[in-house]
Amino acid sequence: MKVTVFGVGYVGLVQAAVLADVGHNVCCVDVDTKKIEGLKKGDIPIFEPGLSELVLNNYEKERLFFTTDATIGVEHAELQFIAVGTPPDEDGSADLQYVLAVAGKIAGHMNGRKIVINKSTVPVGTADKVRAHMTTILRQRELDVPLHVASNPEFLKEGSALDDCMRPERIIVGTDSEEVEEVIRELYEPFSRNRDKIMVMDVRSAEFTKYAANCLLATKISFMNELSNLAERMGVDIEQVRRGIGSDSRIGYQFIYPGCGFGGSCFPKDVRALERSASEIGYEAKILQAVESVNYKQKEKLFEHLCTFYKNEISGKTIALWGLAFKPNTDDMREASSRVLIEALWAAGAKVQAYDPEAMEEAQRIYGTRDDFTLMGTKEAALHGADALVIVTEWKSFRVPDFQKLHQELRDKVIFDGRNLYEPARVEAMGLAYYGIGRGRSIQI
Ligand SMILES: NC(=O)c1ccc[n+]([C@@H]2O[C@H](COP(=O)([O-])OP(=O)(O)OC[C@H]3O[C@@H](n4cnc5c(N)ncnc54)[C@H](O)[C@@H]3O)[C@@H](O)[C@H]2O)c1
Repeated sequence: MKVTVFGVGYVGLVQAAVLADVGHNVCCVDVDTKKIEGLKKGDIPIFEPGLSELVLNNYEKERLFFTTDATIGVEHAELQFIAVGTPPDEDGSADLQYVLAVAGKIAGHMNGRKIVINKSTVPVGTADKVRAHMTTILRQRELDVPLHVASNPEFLKEGSALDDCMRPERIIVGTDSEEVEEVIRELYEPFSRNRDKIMVMDVRSAEFTKYAANCLLATKISFMNELSNLAERMGVDIEQVRRGIGSDSRIGYQFIYPGCGFGGSCFPKDVRALERSASEIGYEAKILQAVESVNYKQKEKLFEHLCTFYKNEISGKTIALWGLAFKPNTDDMREASSRVLIEALWAAGAKVQAYDPEAMEEAQRIYGTRDDFTLMGTKEAALHGADALVIVTEWKSFRVPDFQKLHQELRDKVIFDGRNLYEPARVEAMGLAYYGIGRGRSIQI
């Protein structure tokens, strides 16, 4: 089948490559000329395990191609996916300008039936807005052609995006048209072979399902972080509690890791956007407000621990930082906890020596060159001349460090662990002080 995908970001590029890989013919359109020119030369703009090979292979086989020309994209296929960003507006609501810009382009160039499928995370009612916007343009063009607008929210996780798209747990489709349902079923048939993954519902419920999923997962994390703050004050080790409750099959082990807060391009903005949608209809979403405010505070946790340890005398310290990305296996630093810590350290007069397996270029792009920020080539190099080590992202390569080397290198012999990677007793036995999140006997607040 022929498909066009507008927006070649984490969602659009992965989805396009995966669709091409099962044999569909996919045209990718983006307004970012640099990105599109790079892709044509084989430069993949993001890090996602396996993505580079998949894109290059399908590009070579001419099942995947890239353009900045919306006309080509609109002409290419009846199925038009929208996968552009929906960043938070100033008031926290989802900014729909990019979604509506794409809808406008499609309406401005289409000459026959189109099925517009929205993959971006958008508030309830967006499909109606897209349809109304497109209908106005079609009327101005005096064109009467069939138009369908469906919702197909994306559930991929950065870091395992390919696998999530190749083997989705469910494919949510919001449409009230049997015709559209049939076309979308055909498109996704290769991903639904072992069982029917497709769940068809009305458009508004599909739009809401995406927010419901992300907000529930964010709630689990903030809930656990709240408990970790209690644990810290009550002499409880939250890691033992985590194991204790995770073994309950009604609770499960996923998304109950205490840590230094959640970031990324989705959870923070989606919690805020749903909270905003609620307030627009006069409902105070108290749980969502709490999830957000607990997370906001949690991102300050590591800095608070450092301040307590150093009795607020942080100026002049050199802090080694392991992990810049908002989570492992991605180079994405949007709303990353590392940024809150780095900026607080700078404001307090400290220097940061950072290492991340994938997000160094992104950090360079965000912060540029500064005297108080050095990106180091290895995790060991980040320790040279540092006073303390802080771990912000739980990359696998940080899990089994050489504690003897840490002891030799770190002037103040102290580790602040924002992801509870180590057993406190084991680290302390190596002569290092260790402060995790909610480990009970940790720092006195
Ligand atoms: N990143 C994730 O893990 C994830 C997962 C599920 C859902 N989502 C949702 O999917 C959407 C996209 O997220 P993302 O992380 O892929 O965003 P992204 O910022 O990585 O990519 C968006 C792309 O859209 C392009 N774009 C903007 N305006 C355009 C236009 N008019 N025409 C063509 N291209 C245009 C941008 O240049 C950019 O390349 C968001 O709504 C997000 O909430 C993201």
